[in-house]
Amino acid sequence: MGRFYVTTPIYYVNAKPHLGHAYTTIVGDALTRWHRLLGDEVHYLTGTDEHGLKIQQAAEAVGQTPAAFADEIAPLFAAAWQRLNIANDDFIRTTEPRHRVAVEKLLQACFDAGDIELDTYSGLYCVGCEEYYVEDELVNGTDCPIHKRPVEHFEEENYFFRLSRFEQRLLDWYDAHPGAIVPEHRGNEVRGFIKGGLRDFSVSRTSLTWGIPIPWDTKHVAYVWFDALTNYLSAVGFGGDPEQFAKWWPVNYHLIGKDIIRFHCIYWPAMLMSAGVEPPQGWAVGGWLLSGGEKMSKSLGNVVNPLDLIDDIGLDGFRYYVLADTPYGQDGDFTYEGLIGRYNSDLANNLGNLLSRVATVVGKKCDGIGPAPRADSPLAGAANAAYEAAAAAWDQVQPSRALEATWQLIRATNAYLESNEPWKAEPGPALDAVLGDALEALRLVSILVWPAIPDTADIVWSRIGLTGRVADQRLPAAAAWGGYPGGVAVGKGEPLFPRRQL
Ligand code: MSP
Repeated sequence: MGRFYVTTPIYYVNAKPHLGHAYTTIVGDALTRWHRLLGDEVHYLTGTDEHGLKIQQAAEAVGQTPAAFADEIAPLFAAAWQRLNIANDDFIRTTEPRHRVAVEKLLQACFDAGDIELDTYSGLYCVGCEEYYVEDELVNGTDCPIHKRPVEHFEEENYFFRLSRFEQRLLDWYDAHPGAIVPEHRGNEVRGFIKGGLRDFSVSRTSLTWGIPIPWDTKHVAYVWFDALTNYLSAVGFGGDPEQFAKWWPVNYHLIGKDIIRFHCIYWPAMLMSAGVEPPQGWAVGGWLLSGGEKMSKSLGNVVNPLDLIDDIGLDGFRYYVLADTPYGQDGDFTYEGLIGRYNSDLANNLGNLLSRVATVVGKKCDGIGPAPRADSPLAGAANAAYEAAAAAWDQVQPSRALEATWQLIRATNAYLESNEPWKAEPGPALDAVLGDALEALRLVSILVWPAIPDTADIVWSRIGLTGRVADQRLPAAAAWGGYPGGVAVGKGEPLFPRRQL
């Protein structure tokens, strides 16, 4: 037990929330819910990235001020996360005063350390990425590799962060903290970037006003990435509440997409080292959800709206698909057929069917009263193995593996029923034992699935006659075999997940 602070990237307000954003946010929600079950004190942060040229231009395009534009879009993210049952503890907007003081403080600290200096920059800039490129990084000689649009030539006087000074310190730090980046191959990639040499990056702009002024030279505003990264500090009291800050920093995990790994795993720890703040404890880097083989993104015009999918397949059907279908760290291809296929096989046929067949037999043969499990049940080993494997998977930020472990228990329980055929058996102790075992497995399943599909977990929990809420269970004690009391009413109810046609 301890404290567990997790963040998502803060999302640009130039786009409405789409499936790509929802993906990272749901993974963070499930991970933090697992830690809530462990009894950790959790702080789960998400929010919106509202400054910079990209947002200024998006606002201009619709004839709004950037502030009014951001005020309109940011609540759409907050509302989408509510619909998705995201239990975030805070939502930070980079236009809030608490953020401004933190950015000023961090800039000033790096400046005082001598790591920020004035220089002239001339280079190729992608507004979509809010990042400079060098020629050999471009595709077709002119285009941004991510947005596939021509970069622009920019030249201006900027303050620079002397990232080049941090190569050795970063390598030493990563050597001393193996496993800080998961999955492991992403850590190797970061090491490779650093060894390839680091270029200083500019941390200010004079060509726009939509940002936080540099405290010692207010003609400049802070570069949007310097501004945005600092959200992870501002939300936990940096520059405002030292006690809160000491409690939550360093963060346990930054969840990020692989597109923003350089900012998070190189720029960010260097900025913190310069300012004398501890680097993060961990980063969990996710792949992309693709649609039609390309990264789903507004600029490529291939986004899927998660709220439409919820209307179609239900909240937990959607959450389950997102978490189970793609191993975190790899790219996943979103297809509607895949969504329906997983729903039918895992939720309707496995979990839904298990609950309904147990409830039906208990109704018919035990007067609707669930019997107690056996201490030496043949299912106890499978239950224990599922818990151990799920716990190990969550430790590595691998929700799909945690769910796979849980579904092994569900399948084992279905197989156990099929070989014992309680629906054919006469009422009596042998029948009671089989049903009690299956009910105990369902109790455990409802705890193990809660991080992913919390509403469903609570429905299973109360259908099998348990009181209270899954959220109040504490691991590992609640995972010990034998917790189902027996002698409680098992309800039949509607099918959890009715089968779907394509
Ligand atoms: N504002 C910056 C992040 C600043 S964090 C200090 C940004 N915003 S973003 O809205 O463009 O994307 C943020 C994150 O959303 C990505 O890193 C990734 O985690 C997630 N995703 C956006 N599209 C995605 C997919 N198609 N697939 C999976 N995740 C994706 O970058």
